[in-house]
Amino acid sequence: MAASVGLLFLLIGVSYGNKTFCDGRKERAQCFQPWGATVFVHLMDEVSEKTRFQWTKETTIVLIWRRNGLVTNTLKSRSEFISSNGTFRISNLRSSDGGEYTLKLFDSDGKITGERTLQLHIEGQSPLRVGAISALLLFSIYVICVIVICAQRKRQNGKGEELPADLTYADIRVVQQQERKPAKQNMEEEVEYSQIKIAG
Ligand SMILES: *[C@@H]1O[C@H](CO)[C@@H](O)[C@H](O)[C@H]1NC(C)=O
Repeated sequence: MAASVGLLFLLIGVSYGNKTFCDGRKERAQCFQPWGATVFVHLMDEVSEKTRFQWTKETTIVLIWRRNGLVTNTLKSRSEFISSNGTFRISNLRSSDGGEYTLKLFDSDGKITGERTLQLHIEGQSPLRVGAISALLLFSIYVICVIVICAQRKRQNGKGEELPADLTYADIRVVQQQERKPAKQNMEEEVEYSQIKIAG
């Protein structure tokens, strides 16, 4: 049961694999992408022979491009920089891909000529994690049910002899006491419990 729920979520996750576009040419771009999707981040209009840039996620370097060639791509296994149109493709998006990315453009002397940030939001959770949480939840419910059924059986077997003291009824008498001090004429109500009978 739990395993099939997990598999269901996994299949939903696989069908996520749609391609989406994110325009990173504007400053402070906000991109929302579903978990597991493939995103095409448009970083710049054109990549020329002079283009030098680096793309970092917070303090981690993702891409370094120098003189017509890729120097570094730390997401190599599931990404590709398409230099013909300045687009960076990231496949199989994970929750850890979410965050702030900074693009720094340099001239041939290494001076910064432009800088812009992009916020990538990964929506939804890993289907595996959702599956695991569902399985855990179902298991917990099952355990609780077993405990409750066991407790009820124990009670029935004991035929009431070991029943905890049940309060059947209580006489509640309301005692009205008038305070002695004449300044305070407040009526105080006191609830007195008496004659508490124990069943069994
Ligand atoms: C860039 O090129 C790739 C591969 O041809 C394509 O899939 C992508 O949509 C293009 N992006 C833009 C912004 O044109």
